[in-house]
Amino acid sequence: MADHGAPRPVLEARGIVHAYAGKPALDGVDLCLRAGEVHALMGQNGAGKSTLIKVLTGVEKLQKGGILLDGQAIAPASTLDAQRLGISTVYQEVNLCTNLSVAENIFAGRQPRKPWTRGGGIDWRSVNARARELLLRLDVDIDVRRELGAYSVALQQMVAIARALDISAKVLILDEPTSSLDSDEVAQLFKALRGLRHSGMSILFVTHFLDQVYEVCDRITVLRNGKLVGEHLASQLDHAALVSAMVGRTVSNESAPIARSATDETAAPLVSARDLRRQGGVSGVNLEIRPGEILGFAGLLGSGRTEVARLLAGLDQPHSGELHIKGEPVKLGEPATAIALGLSFCPEERKTEGIVDDLSIRDNIVLSLQARMGLWRKLSPSASCRAETSRSA
Ligand SMILES: Nc1ncnc2c1ncn2[C@@H]1O[C@H](COP(=O)(O)OP(=O)(O)O)[C@@H](O)[C@H]1O
Ligand SMILES: [Mg+2]
Repeated sequence: MADHGAPRPVLEARGIVHAYAGKPALDGVDLCLRAGEVHALMGQNGAGKSTLIKVLTGVEKLQKGGILLDGQAIAPASTLDAQRLGISTVYQEVNLCTNLSVAENIFAGRQPRKPWTRGGGIDWRSVNARARELLLRLDVDIDVRRELGAYSVALQQMVAIARALDISAKVLILDEPTSSLDSDEVAQLFKALRGLRHSGMSILFVTHFLDQVYEVCDRITVLRNGKLVGEHLASQLDHAALVSAMVGRTVSNESAPIARSATDETAAPLVSARDLRRQGGVSGVNLEIRPGEILGFAGLLGSGRTEVARLLAGLDQPHSGELHIKGEPVKLGEPATAIALGLSFCPEERKTEGIVDDLSIRDNIVLSLQARMGLWRKLSPSASCRAETSRSA
């Protein structure tokens, strides 16, 4: 690669091959992250981006190929190991504890202790001061003693970055940090990333938002079907060329035909909500969903999309409003009623609200059937099997 004058490589992956249970996910991939750059790792869903990151950070064991950090071969055995070497990762779904304070999250497992107390009491004063200082470096000015859960996902992500910064200051890897942020929050994140780059940190960044790449990245590596397609300077790869590299064919700029609704506009609505109101986000929402229709809610983070969905599902009690399902008036604020009328809710926080991760896939699927039958009536194997197959069909 004729890249004279490029900053020195910090983290390099060479010929990484990785398979999950014999099925290849990465096939001889190279990556070169240089000092003080923001580098985008791009590719369609399933291209292998997350797998590559997992291999680099010790979540997945290195099967074949090599990793170099500052020219030295490394083989991180765990994320902790990778962190010790100077590589920290922030995942899309923030893995922090929302019931702990912001500062506690930043220092969890690493709290400074008071040297003068026997057994070493935690030195809260310096924990809080240090947490504040770290966040201010990212331009985030919040009360670090408050519970993390009191803050938006965007701020929680900044807290995760602050934690990563404090653990290691060499390489920061972000796997799709922007997918749930609104435009102001993305701007704030990018400002923070530019500041970190300025201080010499190398940042590897996965996103599927094409425009954002150009706002913050210096270099782009594209993967497709587990293979390296190429590495480019962002300034030398235009938008159309990037899309073509990702999908593997030339993509014309013509817009796709507008999807015509297959819905009968004259049909009676299946769901009809009138004047839904709830303090702190929903004021006078009206909507109708007809049979066979997909209705999209668009709006910035905080505009009330989730709140409206929760009202429809009966999870929150509105202050006023009416809801009809199949023409029947529905008592609001009762999830059981909504479920009985066939309204299912798939929450935003899938991991914490959508599933019970201690249970098997099967038990998760039949859980609502069990709930309908009552907790104490044993579900026959045939009934649970029917539920399972009907739901997966
Ligand atoms: N834990 C896993 N077990 C089995 N297959 C996996 C696992 N994680 C990812 N894969 C598969 O590996 C391929 C690459 O996935 P991934 O690295 O998640 O891609 P990306 O992050 O680019 O969307 C996909 O075919 C995916 O289905
Ligand atoms: Mg991924």
